[in-house]
Amino acid sequence: MDLFAFKSLLFLLSFLGCCSGVDILPEGPVDVVLGKNVTLKTLLVKPTYAFLLWSFNDGTDAVNVATVSPAGTKVSEAKYQGRVMVNSTNGFLTLGSVKSEDSGDYALNMITSDGTTQTGNIELRVLEPVSAVAIKSDLPEVVEHNSTVVLTCSAKGSFLKFTWLKGTVPIKIDDKRLTVKEEELSTQLTIRDVVRTDLDGPIFCMAANKLETNKSAPFKLPVHFGPENVAITPAKPPEFYQAGSNVNLTCAASSSPPATFAWYHNKKEIKATGPVLSLKEIEKQGLGKVAEQYTCTATNAKTKRVIASPGVTFAVIDPITGVKISAPAGPFIAGNSSANFTCKAASGTVKTKVWMKDGKPLVASSRVVFSSDMSSVMINPLQKEDNGEFTCQLSNQVTTSKASHKMMVNYGPEPVTVKGEDAVEVNEPVSLTCAAASMPPANFTWKFNGTVTPVKTAQYIIEKAVYKNTGTYTCEAYNPVTKKTTKFTHTLAVKEEGALDEGLSDGAIAGIVIGVLVALGAAIALIMYCRQKVPKRGNASDYETSVQSPY
Ligand SMILES: *[C@@H]1O[C@H](CO)[C@@H](O)[C@H](O)[C@H]1NC(C)=O
Ligand SMILES: *[C@@H]1O[C@H](CO)[C@@H](O)[C@H](O)[C@H]1NC(C)=O
Ligand SMILES: *[C@@H]1O[C@H](CO)[C@@H](O)[C@H](O)[C@H]1NC(C)=O
Ligand SMILES: *[C@@H]1O[C@H](CO)[C@@H](O)[C@H](O)[C@H]1NC(C)=O
Ligand SMILES: *[C@@H]1O[C@H](CO)[C@@H](O)[C@H](O)[C@H]1NC(C)=O
Ligand SMILES: *[C@@H]1O[C@H](CO)[C@@H](O)[C@H](O)[C@H]1NC(C)=O
Repeated sequence: MDLFAFKSLLFLLSFLGCCSGVDILPEGPVDVVLGKNVTLKTLLVKPTYAFLLWSFNDGTDAVNVATVSPAGTKVSEAKYQGRVMVNSTNGFLTLGSVKSEDSGDYALNMITSDGTTQTGNIELRVLEPVSAVAIKSDLPEVVEHNSTVVLTCSAKGSFLKFTWLKGTVPIKIDDKRLTVKEEELSTQLTIRDVVRTDLDGPIFCMAANKLETNKSAPFKLPVHFGPENVAITPAKPPEFYQAGSNVNLTCAASSSPPATFAWYHNKKEIKATGPVLSLKEIEKQGLGKVAEQYTCTATNAKTKRVIASPGVTFAVIDPITGVKISAPAGPFIAGNSSANFTCKAASGTVKTKVWMKDGKPLVASSRVVFSSDMSSVMINPLQKEDNGEFTCQLSNQVTTSKASHKMMVNYGPEPVTVKGEDAVEVNEPVSLTCAAASMPPANFTWKFNGTVTPVKTAQYIIEKAVYKNTGTYTCEAYNPVTKKTTKFTHTLAVKEEGALDEGLSDGAIAGIVIGVLVALGAAIALIMYCRQKVPKRGNASDYETSVQSPY
């Protein structure tokens, strides 16, 4: 039977058949591994037929595989010869060492002698083993939000079903941004406007058929993105930095590949590259004298994007160093000297000047006069209260520095006091102590009855008084710097033994006298009372009478 005749027959059969409603082939498909034998079974039980026709349709053409008639089995197609066998009893078709081309639809037509025809169809699938699963990209690298990338997964094998995985999770195909186009031996995943998360895990392609599953090697594709979050650290620097301090501005950005950086001062590029700009570099370029803005930009060579950071503003201030107080040389005498203190710094711009005395603010007064710029203070006249430590404190935005000067104002002696006995009994000790406030401490001399004694100490001591110690003791205090002298005269009386005995004092005597009088009064009153109480036959008037009665 030639091809034309066979096709005519099939055409004819399409009119005749398909009316019995009895299935002669089971439900397909039948799967077989490449190279093995397969038998396509029928549902026929001892059929009687004139012809059994097995034909194959590969999707385009139908060809005759075998024709069974009472005369025997006829295999006309060369490609089936020697590897096809049909059991004439049940119609089973056995196909030896199947090839991939054997995949397709097989039809069985059974024609009886009365011309009725029964038809069945079954699909045979020759499965090739799954192998060589591999992912390829149409781009070597992609730019986030800018690229559309097509990933192609190819494999060998048949009846492949492909799955795309990110890590272990199937990629969700939304048919908008992510689309998939399946072909027989490959699949294409198209990702529009790629974002970094699309490809941040290794991508796998899985190809599977009924017999096996095969996974591609992990696939990675760099997604270039950024720069983003471009920022300088510290983001909020202090208003002022001290010149020369070890401070760095650092620019950072999230970017892939890493960004390169440039620096700007008031929008003008600075000659400095790299993520770090040091204060020293800013100073070296003569910048920073006033509060101005610094920004950085991050550039991504792949995405070609350039992003600027928010600005940071500060000024670089020289610290105050070498603070000194200059003061006139002494000596100073209270009430007679003046002093002009001047405070200066060797370097740095001073913003505030504060004067202090012994840690407390120095207050202006008629004696204490500050210069209008506070750089000096004149004290005129100096007083003893001006003894102590004078401090000037110079500050600016970044430093506070101070210097102190110890001031010694000579004064006194102030009026002398002498403490000690006024009167002693003979043989008793005497100790007179002289004191006078003075700077420097006063030298003391003692005079007895106007005559200088050898005693030069503050204390005048007589171990055992004798009568002739009676007299006047004058303590003289002399300040060698102020050249002033003050004195005080103390009188001492030395009396005979017992003269100063502790007899009853006037007060005690008065107390005793009063006590005696009170006791006497009380006694009289008691007697009077007792006499009144002596019972008489009298009444109230009697009583009055008795009261009036003399005794
Ligand atoms: C497969 O079929 C061929 C003939 O087509 C036959 O020679 C061979 O023995 C068969 N093999 C098996 C395993 O049935
Ligand atoms: C054909 O099928 C019948 C019934 O199933 C069986 O008995 C017979 O052995 C088969 N013949 C061959 C050549 O396989
Ligand atoms: C990204 O896309 C814009 C416009 O779509 C284009 O001008 C630009 O050159 C692209 N960038 C890169 C790095 O391809
Ligand atoms: C104190 O001295 C400084 C410099 O020596 C001078 O400028 C200032 O006028 C003086 N102050 C007074 C109150 O004399
Ligand atoms: C010192 O003076 C007192 C009286 O002023 C006198 O009584 C006394 O005798 C004098 N003593 C001496 C040792 O001169
Ligand atoms: C105090 O000053 C006056 C005049 O300025 C001078 O004559 C006198 O000697 C001074 N006194 C002392 C104790 O220095």
